[in-house]
Order: sequence, then structure tokens, then C-alpha cells
Amino acid sequence: METIIKKIDIHSKKPEDFSKAAYILQQGGLVAFPTETVYGLGADGLNKEAAKKIYYAKGRPSDNPLILHIADKDALDVLAIDVPKNAKKLAEKFWPGPLTIILKKSIQVPKETTGGLNTVAIRMPAHPLALELIRRSHVFIAAPSANTSGRPSPTCASHVFEDLNGKIDMILDGGSVEIGIESTIIDMTSEIPMILRPGFITREMIEKEIGTVSYDRVVLLEKPDTHILPKAPGMKYRHYAPKGNLCIIEGKMEQVIDYISCNVHKKILQGNRVGIIATEETKEQYKEGIVKTIGSRKDEKTILQGLYSVLREFDSLKVEYIYSESFSEGEHGQAIMNRLLKAAGYQKEKI
Ligand code: TXA
Ligand code: MG
Repeated sequence: METIIKKIDIHSKKPEDFSKAAYILQQGGLVAFPTETVYGLGADGLNKEAAKKIYYAKGRPSDNPLILHIADKDALDVLAIDVPKNAKKLAEKFWPGPLTIILKKSIQVPKETTGGLNTVAIRMPAHPLALELIRRSHVFIAAPSANTSGRPSPTCASHVFEDLNGKIDMILDGGSVEIGIESTIIDMTSEIPMILRPGFITREMIEKEIGTVSYDRVVLLEKPDTHILPKAPGMKYRHYAPKGNLCIIEGKMEQVIDYISCNVHKKILQGNRVGIIATEETKEQYKEGIVKTIGSRKDEKTILQGLYSVLREFDSLKVEYIYSESFSEGEHGQAIMNRLLKAAGYQKEKI
């Protein structure tokens, strides 16, 4: 299959920019498109056969449910039943935006989309192109991140191309995304709402709106425990994995730099290609190894934005070992470390 690539201005409302993509979606095909979090791989979420194609293209296990993307809050009552008041409150506050809400599914939603579950994940994205595509295609777009399963999520169209060229019908290129990690997922079907995946919308922000919420305890584990399964099926897979062996080093910054430098030196002497995930503030202090800047600690958002592309860069450089500084302090530390720890297979050293 030849994958069509179409560049579109992020604020375009021109019908001709969307006509092909909308047609493909209506015909049950696959279109990758930008959202504010990461690029999504879209298909008609109410069409069983279309949803199945997503799993095939990504190599995604079929028990891993998809998120339905909507462009209008009223769609909640079409796709879900028994929607709690607090879920509506969250939708009012955070949509369009990086929050996915789990609700009981309506009969409209096929089990092929929900991985066999009776619940459905719904999100109204805040990206103008995503919203325009949903509106113009008149389709509820099921979209996981547009990467091959197990690779870091794509934050620009060339990442999607790397993974899915030849496997999908079209890529809409709307440039780099704004946030850089996937949405926060909150399950509103449990008695106390539960965060299944941390993201840009933090627990504190949610609690301000609806009171106490809990975390799926898997999210808080420092090491995976094979006896405890996460409530979001996708969280059990080793996502975001770079090809090199990644280890996170935590401690006082000067000591971290010394420790990483020393280990990089040893690994180079043993003949390995070694990478370092550093920041604007520390990059000059590493004298050996391939140093990449994830972002600046003065602006935590740049760290979210840089995370997945740094991991992909090290893949293309065929680096065998990667040492990373730790990023747990800021407002979004929980979300960043959730992704980074998974990428590292939970290898972390406290010094
Ligand atoms: O920001 C995002 O959420 C991006 C963009 C494209 O919107 N999408 C995304 O999709 O990250 P994906 O498929 O990579 O991750 C969806 C996660 C998976 O871990 C899946 O198991 C979980 O959501 N999920 C989906 N439906 C669920 C449900 N009914 N119950 C529990 N978890 C669910
Ligand atoms: Mg994903």
C-alpha cells in the first residue's frame, strides 16, 4: 500500500485539505493525524473491520482497547451510558484537552474497539486539525498512538512515517505536537475515580474539580509486579522502549553527572556506543558519549516535548547503552517518570 503524506497548516479549515482523509476514514481506512498529545492512528471507531486494521498495522495485541476521539461533548451520551455527573464536570473543565475518560459503553460501540471490555475510553482532543478531521468525516475516530507497538509514541509526522509507511493509507502532517506525551486516563466507572495513566492533566488538577481520586496502584510501583495487572490493558506492555539499554540515575545533580560520566567512560572503553539524556543546563558537563538534550529544567514542558524524540534519536544512532538524568521533581514529574521508567524496563539507580 502506498501511504499518502499530506502537509496541512495547523489552522486550516479548507475542505480540500480534509476531503481525502475524511473519505478514507468513511471507507474504513487508516489515517494518522496530529493531536495535542501525540500523533494518533485513526479509523472509524464504530466500524469493526476498520478498528481491526489498526491492530494489524501497529502489531498491537487485540486485548488492548482504543480511545474514541470526539469533536463535540454531546457525543458522550451517544457512546456511553450512565455517565456520572463528575465525568461531565471533567469534560466541561478539561475538554478539548489531554484527558481520556473511561465510561460504560453504549451498544453503539463494538467490542473490537474496546478490546472486549464493557467500558469505553473517550477523549475530545485540543488540536484544531484533529477536531476538523472528526467533524468533516462525521466519524468517531478510534486512535491509539501512531507508532509500531512497543516503540516510543510519535510526536511528529516523520516518526509516524518511520513506523507505519506502507501500512496505512495516509498521514496528515501538522508539524510537531504541543504536549509530547499521551493523555491522562481516568476511570469514572469505579466508585472512587481512578487514574489509570498519568499525563499532562495531573491528579491535583482533577481533584480540584471533583474531589478525591485514586491511582491504579500499578502506576505507583517502582518495579513491575507480575501479580498485579494494570486496569488499562495497554499499561502492561513494555511501551516506549528504545533499542538500547536505558538506565535512569537519580540523586543530587553534581553526583548524577559524575556517576553518569564515569559509567559512560567505562562503557566506551569496553567498545560500546553510549548515549546520555541531558538537559540544556547540564549538557556541557558531559565530556564523552553522545549527549542529547531532552529539554530545559526551567521549562518542564520542553522535557515532555523532547522525551520520545530523544529516545527515537538514540535508536537511529544505534546506541547500545543510554544513561538518563531523572525528572521527578516538577508538576509533571509523575507522568514523565512513568514513561521513562517503562522505557528503561524500570532500571533506575539512586545514588
Ligand atoms: O493522548 C492519547 O491518549 C493518544 C492520542 C492519539 O489521543 N492516544 C493514546 O492511545 O495514547 P493508546 O492506544 O496508545 O493508549 C490508550 C490506552 C491504552 O493503555 C489502553 O489500554 C487504555 O488506554 N484504554 C483504552 N480503553 C480502555 C478501557 N475501556 N479501559 C481501560 N483502559 C483503556
Ligand atoms: Mg500507545
